[in-house]
Amino acid sequence: MERYRLNPLVSREEIDSIVKNLADRISEDYRGRDLILVCILKGAFIFLSDLVRHLRIPVQIDFVRLASYGTGMKTSGTIEITKDIEMPIEGKDLLIIEDIIDSGRTLQFLRDRLTLSNPNSVKICALLDKKSRREVEIEADYLGKEVDDVFVVGYGIDFNEAYRYLPEIYYITPVDQQKD
Ligand code: IMP
Ligand code: MG
Repeated sequence: MERYRLNPLVSREEIDSIVKNLADRISEDYRGRDLILVCILKGAFIFLSDLVRHLRIPVQIDFVRLASYGTGMKTSGTIEITKDIEMPIEGKDLLIIEDIIDSGRTLQFLRDRLTLSNPNSVKICALLDKKSRREVEIEADYLGKEVDDVFVVGYGIDFNEAYRYLPEIYYITPVDQQKD
């Protein structure tokens, strides 16, 4: 079994200030509107729960689960919905809550699919963005932090279901077992 080293990337303090900042902007922009947060499971669940506790406007919340990353570190390119949204979204303002943008294919797929149901608007809020890896044209309307092309874990984000529970964000690198 390959082992990984956890390298600190975003501290608890920095996450707090990023999330508060995003919540302030969203609260300003959506005041008086009918906002539904659409959280992409599983990776964004901690981000969503911290974000909503800093919002100062009423929102509704729904969840989708998309499969593309199966296992490993690369997206397959084919995306499918394994748990769909359950609320009526026609005429509503939607804000997709995502953990991290990589190729952009997941968000492009979801945004296009939600748009088919005639919402009033669809925007994107992402905690992290690996902009250098983008393969399709998609940008977050609300972005926490741009990161380098590294594999990130913690604060809800996993590698093969490991590390989601960590309160801070790390990037993983393989440990050379000979030297260990
Ligand atoms: P995209 O469709 O290539 O943009 O991939 C986005 C999805 O891949 C996100 O929802 C993440 O779950 C996952 N992902 C992308 N980069 C990482 C990473 O560094 N660590 C863990 N998951 C990642
Ligand atoms: Mg994900």
